[in-house]
Amino acid sequence: MPLLTDTFDAFGLDIGDRSLKAAYLTGRRSAAALKSIGAIDVPNGVFDAGALKAPDALREHVQKLLAVSGPKKIKTKYVHACLPETHTFLKLLTFEGVGPEELPAAIREELPRHVPLSPEELYLDWAVVAPELPATSTRVLVGAIPKETSDSYTAALRRCGLVPVSLQIEAQAMLRALLPDDPEADSPFAVVDIGATRSSFVLYDRGSIQFTVTIPVSGVAATERIANGLHLAPEEAENAKQAMGLDPQKGGGSVRAILLPLINELSGAIQKNAAFYQEHFPESRGVATVLLCGGGSLLPGLFEELQLSLPGASISHGNPGAHVESGAKLGITLPYTTAIGLALSNMR
Ligand SMILES: Nc1ncnc2c1ncn2[C@@H]1O[C@H](COP(=O)(O)OP(=O)(O)OP(=O)(O)O)[C@@H](O)[C@H]1O
Ligand SMILES: [Mg+2]
Repeated sequence: MPLLTDTFDAFGLDIGDRSLKAAYLTGRRSAAALKSIGAIDVPNGVFDAGALKAPDALREHVQKLLAVSGPKKIKTKYVHACLPETHTFLKLLTFEGVGPEELPAAIREELPRHVPLSPEELYLDWAVVAPELPATSTRVLVGAIPKETSDSYTAALRRCGLVPVSLQIEAQAMLRALLPDDPEADSPFAVVDIGATRSSFVLYDRGSIQFTVTIPVSGVAATERIANGLHLAPEEAENAKQAMGLDPQKGGGSVRAILLPLINELSGAIQKNAAFYQEHFPESRGVATVLLCGGGSLLPGLFEELQLSLPGASISHGNPGAHVESGAKLGITLPYTTAIGLALSNMR
């Protein structure tokens, strides 16, 4: 065992608007073993669209989460957490004739054209991508996190007795879980995460995320529509959604009828974002595959319905256990994609 090591025994913590999820993996990336997994619901108001409204309540919820996660107890205090999608920025920038030494300054100069905050207000991280571009061009994927958000999450996690090893952009964590080690380089694909309070669309091509977009379709919105349409209490509406989904036979198709406009909104947004990529990115190709993840992707009949409205692409569920050897047995499911990706962070 080396004395100094650049890897930590750390767990992944997905801080969503309505849930906390933990995943704890050990071993190597090629054959990770899932030791522990768990989730708890967080009431509305603790995190509000990504802002930490009640940092002290976080402590109580984290303790609850660690208590319900299993089968092994999570004892490490080191954590890889993600920041809410709506509070982070991921931008792909292309520079002409800029050498490696000039790159940091060039990024700081260019970024204000793409992000509504100044570089002084942001923590920045970047990686050079797309080596197949002409030699004079450099393409850089830049991640930017507002210092204020990041510092408030770091302080809140420390108050929980945890040591944040990294705070990450959610799209990167998701892809770490879903991507095979050698992704097929020849066709772009989209990942669509359908969460409690929003969906997000991530376009991946040529070894890099190309862009991410938030889509205002969510699990909570679906439940609310059912509650209003059928005059049901929120829990009854949630049960009806999960049991009936888009099935035309169940409940006389009443839930399906209520949800269809929302599903059309989702498929319209997927189509629009895929078309945007083809039109606006110089050397881009058509999106061949759409991978679904997040709790909302479990809606019965969803993937069949999306396949009908997007005949040009192949729609399927992502596999959040792609890198986890003993994952399937332990019940890794689609809502855990981000937590698994975070837990994979320090693995080689
Ligand atoms: N079987 C199911 N059918 C339909 N919807 C489901 C099912 N299971 C879970 N959901 C929905 O998934 C949503 C939660 O998904 P998820 O756990 O991915 O969200 P989150 O990560 O907490 O939220 P966010 O990513 O928006 O911060 C809820 O709205 C829930 O109703
Ligand atoms: Mg989520």
